[in-house]
Amino acid sequence: MKKLTFIQSIVLIITGTLNAWSAEPGIRQHLQMDLNWKFIQSDVKGAEIENFDDTKWRTLNLPHDWSIEGEFKEDAITKGPGGYLPTGIGWYRKHLSLSSVGKDQQYWIEFDGVYMNSDVWINGQHLGKHPYGYTSFYYDLTHFIKKGENIIAVRVDNSMQPNSRWYSGSGIYRHVWLNITGPVHIGQWGTYITTPVADSSSATIIVRTSIENHYHVIKNIVLRSVVINESGKEIATLETPVSLSSSGKTDVEQNIQLASPALWSVDTPSLYRLQSSILDGTKLNDNFISTFGIRKIEFDKDKGFLLNGKHIKINGVCLHHDAGCLGSAVPEQAWRRRLQLLKEMGCNAIRTSHNPPAPEFLDLCDKMGFLVMDEAFDEWVEAKGQVQYGYHKYFEESSQSDLLSMIHRDRNHPSVVIWSSGNEVPDQVVENGSEILRKLIETFHKEDPTRPVTQANDRIAAGDGPAKLPFLELQDIVGYNYVDRWHERRELYYSIDRHDHPGWKMIGTENVSVGGLRGQYTIGPDQSDKRPGRSRDYRLGMIEAEELWKFTSVNDYVTGDFMWTGIDYLGEAGWPNKSSSSGVIDLCGFPKDGYYFYQSQWTRKPMVHLFPHWNWAGHAGQIISVIAYTNCDSAELFLNGKSFGTKSYVFPQQGHSVGWNTFASPYISPTTSDLHLSWDVPYEPGTLKVVGKKNGKIVTEEVHTASEPAAIHLSADRKDITADAWDIVNVKAEIVDENGLVVPGADNLIEFKIEGEGNIIGTDNGNPQDKTQMKSKNRKTFNGLALAVVQSTEKSGTIRLTAVSANLKEAVLQFVSTRPVN
Ligand code: GAL
Repeated sequence: MKKLTFIQSIVLIITGTLNAWSAEPGIRQHLQMDLNWKFIQSDVKGAEIENFDDTKWRTLNLPHDWSIEGEFKEDAITKGPGGYLPTGIGWYRKHLSLSSVGKDQQYWIEFDGVYMNSDVWINGQHLGKHPYGYTSFYYDLTHFIKKGENIIAVRVDNSMQPNSRWYSGSGIYRHVWLNITGPVHIGQWGTYITTPVADSSSATIIVRTSIENHYHVIKNIVLRSVVINESGKEIATLETPVSLSSSGKTDVEQNIQLASPALWSVDTPSLYRLQSSILDGTKLNDNFISTFGIRKIEFDKDKGFLLNGKHIKINGVCLHHDAGCLGSAVPEQAWRRRLQLLKEMGCNAIRTSHNPPAPEFLDLCDKMGFLVMDEAFDEWVEAKGQVQYGYHKYFEESSQSDLLSMIHRDRNHPSVVIWSSGNEVPDQVVENGSEILRKLIETFHKEDPTRPVTQANDRIAAGDGPAKLPFLELQDIVGYNYVDRWHERRELYYSIDRHDHPGWKMIGTENVSVGGLRGQYTIGPDQSDKRPGRSRDYRLGMIEAEELWKFTSVNDYVTGDFMWTGIDYLGEAGWPNKSSSSGVIDLCGFPKDGYYFYQSQWTRKPMVHLFPHWNWAGHAGQIISVIAYTNCDSAELFLNGKSFGTKSYVFPQQGHSVGWNTFASPYISPTTSDLHLSWDVPYEPGTLKVVGKKNGKIVTEEVHTASEPAAIHLSADRKDITADAWDIVNVKAEIVDENGLVVPGADNLIEFKIEGEGNIIGTDNGNPQDKTQMKSKNRKTFNGLALAVVQSTEKSGTIRLTAVSANLKEAVLQFVSTRPVN
């Protein structure tokens, strides 16, 4: 797909002084239509009409989420599920000036996602309504678009509340595109690429291309498909003559053979591009680029998941679609940073709970090597609890088209390895639930026979109304939410069903995680929620996660698990909280202790993480439980140079190898059967240090010490930024002592100031109770940290961010914002 450069799109779309397509007649234009929309956050009569006066409306760029701009209010209509933010109705209008409209050209507009209930018009002509806020959709404009000014009007209605169990955001929160092609063209999401043979020696690539002929005569064309490797080299070409009936559509199948392919995997996510061209004689009518990967996936009832023949335990996390202070309008770099963190934790899989994600999210998963469970719905026919206006209202009418949109859009992504038809749908326990599931699965299988389908069942073996057996038996892989919920399953997990249903494939679709508040500790008696899986006491929160991981890791038939959740998310909260703290990473993208628990189990590079902090003035002599997560053989703890002993755990235990009393690696006596180490240490101020050892040698360490705030320190996730009005830099602000160490518990108020070609589009600190508006430039730190997100303007130049706070040395960070090079 050809993306217009920033400058081109400005010229073509905004001013319309140039002709967008006559430069290359017939060749597809895939134009980002994000800039300069008019917006009003209210319902307005007649705003779809062409000559409606919108001059007083605000001008903004998409993607846009108006909920995140609002105030947190306890009486907000969204209540806790929506994070106490406003929703309502909004209108967008785009003035699209075209200097000419090509004869026979085809035009359609594509929305990646609008939350929710959108109605779209062009020049007063209603194009359609799209209820679901998470699926992509498009409308044909060909018969309505004209030379000169065109008005695209979009009404977004998120007023019927509650309609979600978590924060949704409101508005056109994903990108919008204008597609322009010749009269014979490849359909929307029109290529379907599979790799039925994929090994290191060869690959068979099957390409199914759907072609539309908009001429009222028979057309004989040639479909040329070219495979391009990562270095940009064309490595295979196939041409197929196709006869298209008048105003007809057809699917063409091509079979391409490739020797020695670079296989896609989580460690080496090699990608290929397919360039599809339609040749009408010598004239190029359309060209279209699809990205794909060559890989083989298998789900085996005994061995679990195999990628390219190699067993991989799915070590996954569930993620919602918001990015904290940015709401649901999330620039790609926000996800790149968050996914990078998850990668460093050893996470290899994401469940897009509980809806299809933005397309660029899946592009990142392809590029960075994540396996994805792409989920369709949180509700089917049956309503969930208090969600009065949830998707159950639209399921009958829209579920088939929503499913087709999701499958057709996402099925070329190598990262997507499994579909989920739903999350904890109450339909699992009702008589006709199986019929609904059967239809959904039929659609998945018909549209994409290469991937299995699951459902995230939370009522398997429920004492008060279990999921129906026929419902579970329909699933290609049975999904378990909270596998340890029902009495005897607390220790036996999946094994009861494994015994009773040996043919089932099983996966943990959603299970417990460590969660909690970053940097927050209580050293007195445990005050936290005593319900299983809810303990937020730093000494206990990890126990259930450890037990579950022990079971999951040694039983190959358990395909893996998606823990709840990788990152905190807005909503699903109770006042005074605005967000959920189930993540191992907070709303700002700062790791919590639980992050290091998973890192200790999922990665090999030596690490040790120590907590709590060591700043407990007034608690001298009090015994404090000091905890370490490590993947080293053992760890030794020191307080002010004095050793508190070396400790270790071994999991799984080593068996004898080769002969009696010989082991594959040196045997270290475990001191605990947990997956964390702990020491009871009477508090005295000073330096607490842990060292991690491998084969008797120190390989890593972490130090905590008491300190006083002296300065602000700023650091960014990148140095340079692109001037395209959508790129961002994530800046971490730390309150540090005179040695540059973060001060535990620091809650200093920082004022962020910005100069040059950038704007601050959000600030946060990860504290679920901080209800300062997300767009505020003033932010207290929470346990020493805060985040400021800086976005570039359309102009290149310097961006200078300053952070000031009373009695602290200020900090300055400078970036260079440059125009993208074509
Ligand atoms: C699950 C549900 C998630 C979330 C979680 C909270 O049952 O699937 O969406 O609500 O509980 O603990």
